[in-house]
Amino acid sequence: MSRTLLIIKPDATERDMVGHIVSRLEKARYSVVEMRMMNLTTEQAREFYAVHEGKPFLDDLVAFMTTGRVVPMVLEKENAVLDLRTLVGATNPVNADCGTIRYEIGRNIEKNSVHASDSDENAAKEIAFFFDK
Ligand code: CDP
Ligand code: MG
Repeated sequence: MSRTLLIIKPDATERDMVGHIVSRLEKARYSVVEMRMMNLTTEQAREFYAVHEGKPFLDDLVAFMTTGRVVPMVLEKENAVLDLRTLVGATNPVNADCGTIRYEIGRNIEKNSVHASDSDENAAKEIAFFFDK
């Protein structure tokens, strides 16, 4: 078993899609082992996305991530990180494969409904960012 972090982003909480997304994850055999709902501060959003420092989209992304509720959760499954990236789909929903979460509910390249960790190393860091040991 391995673990990864998923965040339901504000564009999805605003449309009341929390239950829909969790249901999709559970049908894909993920177990939700930790979950919370919160509003990110600008400082928290910048820290979480520090890897994107200097990129042109960062300021808008940070602003978007603080517009509403987010739902970070820890998901457990075999091969969790890579399988979740596949289930989530490409960053831009117009490029996402049919059947992925972003294809189904993503609005645009920024408001793409969910975040998913991209490596085991980053998953561990991102889980520690939101949840105590
Ligand atoms: O989330 P993912 O790993 O697929 O993409 P990323 O390249 O790590 O970018 C992080 C987030 O920044 C994306 O999920 C989008 O919300 C946002 N983004 C954006 O607004 N414009 C871009 N050109 C690229 C990413
Ligand atoms: Mg990323």
